[in-house]
Amino acid sequence: MSWTKFVAEIDAKDVFRLNTTTQLNGRFTVPGDKSISHRSIIFGALAEGETRVSGFLRSEDCLATLQIMQDLGVDITAAGDEVLISGVGLHGLKASAGELDCGNAGTAMRLLSGLLAAQNFSSTLVGDESLSIRPMGRVIRPLTTMGANITSDNDTAPLRFNPVNAIHAINYNSPIASAQVKSAVLIAGLYADGKTNVTEPKKSRDHTETMLAGFGAEVEVEGLTVGVKGQPQLQGQNIQVPADISSAAFFMVLGLCHPKADFIIENVSINPTRDGVIKILQAMGGKLTLENVRDQAGEPVADIRVQSSELKGIEIPHDLIPSAIDEFPIIFIAAAFASGQTKLTGAEELRHKESDRIKVMLDGLNLLGIDCEELADGAIIKGGTLGSGMVDGHGDHRCAMSFLLAGALSSGQEISVRGCHNIGTSFPEFFDLVTALGIAVKQPVPVITVDGPSGVGKGTISALLAKELDWHLLDSGAIYRSLALKAMKSTVKATDEERLIELAEHLDLTFSVDGKTGTNIILDGTPVNAELRSEACGEMASKVAPIPAVRAALMQRQKDFQQTPGLIADGRDMGTVVFKSAPLKVFLTANPKERAKRRHKQLQEQGVDVKIRDLLEDIEARDYRDSSRKVAPLVPASDAHVIDTSELSIDEVFAKIIGLIEQHIKI
Ligand code: DC
Repeated sequence: MSWTKFVAEIDAKDVFRLNTTTQLNGRFTVPGDKSISHRSIIFGALAEGETRVSGFLRSEDCLATLQIMQDLGVDITAAGDEVLISGVGLHGLKASAGELDCGNAGTAMRLLSGLLAAQNFSSTLVGDESLSIRPMGRVIRPLTTMGANITSDNDTAPLRFNPVNAIHAINYNSPIASAQVKSAVLIAGLYADGKTNVTEPKKSRDHTETMLAGFGAEVEVEGLTVGVKGQPQLQGQNIQVPADISSAAFFMVLGLCHPKADFIIENVSINPTRDGVIKILQAMGGKLTLENVRDQAGEPVADIRVQSSELKGIEIPHDLIPSAIDEFPIIFIAAAFASGQTKLTGAEELRHKESDRIKVMLDGLNLLGIDCEELADGAIIKGGTLGSGMVDGHGDHRCAMSFLLAGALSSGQEISVRGCHNIGTSFPEFFDLVTALGIAVKQPVPVITVDGPSGVGKGTISALLAKELDWHLLDSGAIYRSLALKAMKSTVKATDEERLIELAEHLDLTFSVDGKTGTNIILDGTPVNAELRSEACGEMASKVAPIPAVRAALMQRQKDFQQTPGLIADGRDMGTVVFKSAPLKVFLTANPKERAKRRHKQLQEQGVDVKIRDLLEDIEARDYRDSSRKVAPLVPASDAHVIDTSELSIDEVFAKIIGLIEQHIKI
């Protein structure tokens, strides 16, 4: 596949925008709990007899666990969200021929580490790029104490498990409250003689101990210590997986911050080790009501009523952090919509999730104009109004979904989110569900903006890029020049704002693209390419362009160029005003002398004789006008890549931009 095609395909798939103005009512549910789904497969496999799981979350993460257990010789069949596992018993797993791929799933890698560490055959766990940099020392250390033989580079995946003959029970004092660490040790402990205990500084989610007890293991919970007796005989179970509170959390915040919402999310797990998000949002003034609270195979579940609320900022209590640890991306969005300040400390753990969630979320909120401050172990967020922009979810599913819903809540703003490709790891139905709620999902056509002063080579570079990518090209300067030409022909002066606005509003201008001659610019039915390039026309354009109403009148014409498969937009304010959400913005500069030289050469080639000194004076005067004007002045967008072309050839500039495209659009 050529990179050109790759750019278009990936970008179209990976950049989204949501919008809503509708009322949010009714009842719906979200997919099954991720933590419970992972564990149901693992324990079902280790049990004797059959385990039936309904409501299984068919996300990429959980399917990775399912595939790995199949690779280890377990017979598992899945139809929709119903899964049937023929358990092989504690000692029935077989070595896999190949590596075992956890994809993006930290839960799979850490829980299965506990399982594979205790086997008398070798295996290797691998993961994707993001999982391969996440810390695994936290499970390797206690498992090694238990007698496991694990090799890794720098305590990161790939993890190689060498065969062992025996695993020893330990009493482990975990330095962190992590259900994944606790579970890894307890799962290895199933293979030990005697009782393995794990004590945590704070209680983490308890699905492992709850489910192990349900499968018949001897489990003891005392305060912050969980103990499990080794060599149990696990018995197959019927498991009904409740809806995932972590997925429901996105819709809780959507409803609370939405002006017209009153809906119910059904059958949600409200396990007390997971319900921190409900307590935090309620403390912020969120109207969340638990209805029909009931017990479902040891797991408490409820229907959650969500009503529009006036949220206010709070200091998040430390004791709620472990039970809300996965929900902070969307809690940060709630904080951005709340009045006043929200402060989180003591949550350094967020930096070691699928991304550094403190940085990713705060970078995005900052870019959208929210006043916030990154702390080493948390954040301070002052509620405000979100502006437009393109934010980056950095391939972290929860950050991406959080920003998307922020976009859905910000009517009138254009918030696009890049890096959404991992949403399927936890919530494959996310887009179906938001669509069902009446929220429009848009995959914007990608735009690359190329801004800079006149004579910098934007036109040449932009045309080359458009040709290379086979994308549309917008020469926005030609639109201002066309208006200038029309004004000159109609003897309208640059000072006659009223007439200029009228001309701008009714400009009869078309761009017809012809494979041979390039773009033909037709004004009032006549081709005007050559006339537009005259110095007089450029001069006039630079005088009419600062008029705000003229710019407003020409805005939509420019936006209309955004057509599939993509657009290269060349001008002064493409990245700052017209295409603020462009996924790649380039700003070209060059010193005025160099630009005058280039322009001189160009004019000489056209047989026009002018002095370089005059051109330099012109360029400097025009630069001054373009950059000092009040509306859309010539400045690089804050997220633009500035390239000084003074010492670079066209080929070198082109190569640099291609490099940026590969880096920033191909994700
Ligand atoms: O890029 P150019 O030389 O063809 O542009 C002609 C004039 O139009 C320039 O002096 C400033 C104005 N212009 C603008 O204000 N905004 C744009 N996006 C493009 C051009």
